[in-house]
Amino acid sequence: MRAALLPVARAASLGLSFWLLLSWVDRGVVAKELKFVTLVFRHGDRSPIETFPNDPIKESSWPQGFGQLTQLGMEQHYELGQYIRKRYRKFLNESYKPEQVYIQSTDIDRTLMSAMVNLAGLFPPEGVSIWNPSLPWQPIPVHTVSLSEDRLLYLPFQDCPRFKELKEETLKSTEFQKRLHPYKNFIETLPTFTGYHTEDLFGMWTKVYDPLFCESIHNFTLPSWATEDTMFKLKKLSELSILSIYGIHKQKEKSRLQGGVLVSEILTNMNSATQPSNHRKLVMYSAHDTTVSGLQMALDVYNGILPPYASCHIMELYLEKGEYFVEMYYRNETQHEPYPLTLPGCIPSCPLTEFTKLVAPVIPQDWSTECMTTSKDQVLRVVLAVAFCLVSGVLVVLLFTLLRYGPCWHRDPYRNI
Ligand SMILES: *[C@@H]1O[C@H](CO)[C@@H](O)[C@H](O)[C@H]1NC(C)=O
Ligand SMILES: *[C@@H]1O[C@H](CO)[C@@H](O)[C@H](O)[C@H]1NC(C)=O
Ligand SMILES: *[C@@H]1O[C@H](CO)[C@@H](O)[C@H](O)[C@H]1NC(C)=O
Repeated sequence: MRAALLPVARAASLGLSFWLLLSWVDRGVVAKELKFVTLVFRHGDRSPIETFPNDPIKESSWPQGFGQLTQLGMEQHYELGQYIRKRYRKFLNESYKPEQVYIQSTDIDRTLMSAMVNLAGLFPPEGVSIWNPSLPWQPIPVHTVSLSEDRLLYLPFQDCPRFKELKEETLKSTEFQKRLHPYKNFIETLPTFTGYHTEDLFGMWTKVYDPLFCESIHNFTLPSWATEDTMFKLKKLSELSILSIYGIHKQKEKSRLQGGVLVSEILTNMNSATQPSNHRKLVMYSAHDTTVSGLQMALDVYNGILPPYASCHIMELYLEKGEYFVEMYYRNETQHEPYPLTLPGCIPSCPLTEFTKLVAPVIPQDWSTECMTTSKDQVLRVVLAVAFCLVSGVLVVLLFTLLRYGPCWHRDPYRNI
């Protein structure tokens, strides 16, 4: 009896394996279709934006002055462009098509230039798009809005009172003070070397660590106090600065006012991409370390390390068996395949519906209103409401008094006669 069943069992198990293999092939190769890609990257290598008073290396030591993309930075973004071309060769169908691609940059030289050199690597003209045989380049538009109107990429947004309040709360929080404590003595020694007096971590990052970092990359001799140990501590303080801007205290609420704005825009684009009428395949955002980290803090996938030059946050939308999935990657090293990022609470290939639910808490409903809702305003609002009630109470009493006794004032003195 058992022996008779064996061939049946074998056949069944073979059939099952075959089916599993087929469905695997089906999932991996046939059915999973890339529909839409979003890239958010940092500009390439640049000169410092500013520096500390005692720095012997002044702005004039940099060929293009402060804050400009260097040739190394151009190389980095050309490389990233070539990588994107390789990664999406089939998806983008060779050459540039205006309706498929949209690029937006912050309105700053280095991010605009990074986007342009990236596009030179991504879309060299081919076939009919070659317009000058001796120039392997074609113009591709890079969109921007002025910094004062940039409510998408130029993070962290400053004109937001509630965010300012949250930042102040963060600096007072025990968690932040705990993380800062080991560096207290070190911070006190800094002004004698730098000539720059500040308690502000963001200042130490942008005015001390960053210029020294740029100078070391460009083979300038650092001041003798800028030892390896000093640089390490400055780097840690800079990382703490980013973390304290976007997180440590009330990260979700801060994200609504910062990176959540970009998450919202990306979700909107993804949802448009699920529509049959959609032609757009790729949206690229050229921005800053504070943009990449702000986005990743809103998505809660930030690794806490300062985003390197030309690092790129990748979001891919796939269609598989009628359902949409979001996959995220972080290309922060040229020598390493992009690191997969998993939205907390989801799986690496996260259903779009689930993704939308999970990020809902960081999507602002009305950014401006949420920014104006500071706790001081809330107190003021309560005070005003109480005052309003009191005043209306008094008015009502007055009105009743008037109605009750008022008519006597108007009595015709002769009527009773
Ligand atoms: C690429 O474009 C060509 C010509 O427009 C078209 O025939 C081909 O099907 C396209 N391939 C893909 C993968 O979209
Ligand atoms: C700094 O010096 C190293 C070693 O000589 C060299 O490989 C590198 O290209 C230099 N960096 C820059 C930005 O010039
Ligand atoms: C890149 O990201 C990975 C994953 O978070 C991290 O382990 C690695 O140290 C990062 N590399 C750089 C250069 O930031």
